[in-house]
Amino acid sequence: MPVPDSRPTSGLPQLPPGFRFGTSTAAYQIEGAATEDGKGPSIWDTFCAQPGRIVDGSSGAVACDHFHRYAEDIALMKRLGVGGYRLSVSWPRIQPTGSGPANAKGLAFYDRLIDELLANDVQPMVTLYHWDLPQALEDDGGWLNRATVDRFAEYAAILGERFADRVEHWIPVNEPNVVMTMGYASGMHAPGRELMFDSMPVAHHLLLAHGRAAVALRAAGATSVGCANNHAPMWPASDDAADVGATKLFDALWNGMFSEPMLLGRYPADLAPLFEDIVQDGDMATIRQPLDFYGVNYYNPFKIGAAGEDSEMPFEFRELLGYPVTDFGWPVVPDALREWLILLRARFRAALPPIYITESGCAYNMGPDEHGVVDDQPRIDYLDSHLRAVATAVQRGVDVRGYYTWSMMDNFEWAEGFTQRFGLVHVDYETQKRTPKRSFQWYADVIAAQTKSL
Ligand code: NOJ
Repeated sequence: MPVPDSRPTSGLPQLPPGFRFGTSTAAYQIEGAATEDGKGPSIWDTFCAQPGRIVDGSSGAVACDHFHRYAEDIALMKRLGVGGYRLSVSWPRIQPTGSGPANAKGLAFYDRLIDELLANDVQPMVTLYHWDLPQALEDDGGWLNRATVDRFAEYAAILGERFADRVEHWIPVNEPNVVMTMGYASGMHAPGRELMFDSMPVAHHLLLAHGRAAVALRAAGATSVGCANNHAPMWPASDDAADVGATKLFDALWNGMFSEPMLLGRYPADLAPLFEDIVQDGDMATIRQPLDFYGVNYYNPFKIGAAGEDSEMPFEFRELLGYPVTDFGWPVVPDALREWLILLRARFRAALPPIYITESGCAYNMGPDEHGVVDDQPRIDYLDSHLRAVATAVQRGVDVRGYYTWSMMDNFEWAEGFTQRFGLVHVDYETQKRTPKRSFQWYADVIAAQTKSL
């Protein structure tokens, strides 16, 4: 497999000893094998089968075929030199209908995967829920139904009992704010519900699921439990009071609604009235479990303005001009990552555990040239500038312990299907050939340089 030369890394500041370099994926986005070894259907299998939901009409039924090719993929991780790999477990592989006894073949797959990682000196960071809810649970109301929290706690106990001896870090729920807004409020993701503000119970149940899973995992011996929350600095479109107010509200919804209950045991004041009829006695204490780390998934800041009078929502997104954009159209603003890390510490102070960047990355869609080289210099620039932003935050005293790129390999990008490529490794979906991009070699060089001098 050709690995082209990369430009030498240009003096990235030294990160602290033990800083963990990693990379991330999620089950539905890479595994494929959608019906193999007893796996049940998830809401994403159902959603993708509905015409018009996925831009290219694709699904994760085969994806990167990682279920069969995991050993090849882990060999690439070893070459990359990452010390950590963030993966997710497919709930319907473990419990095909979301409840009842574990599927032995499903557990066996993750045994193989985790053991192969460890044999290659890569520590697993395991997400329990990266959006593939068993369809049978959705049929009973999904995350709108409080009973789903009980099912999730049972599933967490199964995983903890089987894998806690081998998993370095655990994350119960990936990006609960995206699950709620995209899955249940706007309907752009599975299960495709369009409930707008009626989706609030989903937020509370995901938070309870987080807390109950943390308890179950620890009871089974897990020693490091955290979270992976999607965060973005919110920038008002102007100094106008209406724009500033709209920004504050959206910040509470996006950044505060999950972080404040997890770390402080309360909803942001502006949102608390929305939860009055949902919260039961003891819930906030269940949600506020001590966390060993706080995971941040960062992509870009948002510019927010007040919405017009006929709008259903009190805020609207404005275009953030003046920055380069990725092929997805997302602005590239590394300074906003530094800003967010500093803001997070200012907001939570002693309540904030050490931070891991659990996702950071960009979609650029170039493929191999006639020499088989994938020249993705914009991804190198992106990762370089974002690692520098982390280094600056660390120099200013923010306790960041690791950086996991999104993603190890090109994969199924949800509603965008296979049209957006986030990987360090290019995947040809016809042949399943893996081709490390120039950014792969660049990241390998960074890791080698950073860890050699420790
Ligand atoms: C965050 C999600 O966790 C991940 O699944 C997704 O692919 C990336 N964002 C990029 O959109």
